[in-house]
Amino acid sequence: MNFRYNPIKKWLITLYRQFYPIPGSPWTKGHVDDLCQINLVPPETLKTFFADCIKILQKIKGQEIGDYLEFGVFNGSSMGSAYLTAQNFHLNTMKFFGFDSFEGLPAGTDEEHDILQKGFYCCPFEKTKECLQKRGVNPDDVIWIKGVYQQTLNDEIFKKVGYPKIGLVFIDCDTYSSSKAVFDFLAPLMTEPAIFCLDDWKLYDMDIKGTGEYKSFNEFLEKNKHIKAKEIKSYNRKSKSFLILPQVTPEN
Ligand SMILES: C[S@@+](CC[C@H](N)C(=O)[O-])C[C@H]1O[C@@H](n2cnc3c(N)ncnc32)[C@H](O)[C@@H]1O
Repeated sequence: MNFRYNPIKKWLITLYRQFYPIPGSPWTKGHVDDLCQINLVPPETLKTFFADCIKILQKIKGQEIGDYLEFGVFNGSSMGSAYLTAQNFHLNTMKFFGFDSFEGLPAGTDEEHDILQKGFYCCPFEKTKECLQKRGVNPDDVIWIKGVYQQTLNDEIFKKVGYPKIGLVFIDCDTYSSSKAVFDFLAPLMTEPAIFCLDDWKLYDMDIKGTGEYKSFNEFLEKNKHIKAKEIKSYNRKSKSFLILPQVTPEN
């Protein structure tokens, strides 16, 4: 199973984009007075979406829906929305994992894409913590995995901090190589239903170009045939979200 577009759909989307191009983000470079004021997605939009995701997972898994993992935290805006929504649902056992280098997009980004560049979306860790505090989130409640995914997503780290129970996963790291590292890490941990939110599916038409999260997610499904995905309503037209259903065969 995959979510690759057939040639007709691809042609139709390309045509549609002529009239409704994906707007670029103004926050990738240049001076910003206060990084904490940036909301790449309106927090209320995300809170409504996260509440819907929690309800879907609760129907399937009960109150123990698993942990929240965010790959690409930047200034903590989406992390804050997830945390505050989970609090409203009294998800007291849910752990929060934040994965980021806090140095912005890594080297090689511009080789993958002509607009995104190394260092875009850089928010130093101390600043992220300050922004979270301003949003009413205690940053110490988050398990932080700092560094580039290709170096941090390994057994050594998780033997120390404990492996997450995959519940709600927010993937917002823009490029093919970063999201591929994320899916490679997640694949062996997928034993229970979960929701993946792919924030950058349509970023700068990467889906039509066949790269970015579109490419890495389709590869993930093609490599892991026991994992089924069902598209669910996402929070904006750039993103895609999926209910992930691993078909675990009972042990003999
Ligand atoms: C678009 S921002 C995330 C925005 C955030 N989710 C929000 O809504 O406010 C992308 C983030 O991904 C991080 N990132 C991208 N690729 C990475 C990699 N390979 N390793 C670690 N962090 C990465 C960058 O440092 C940046 O903070």
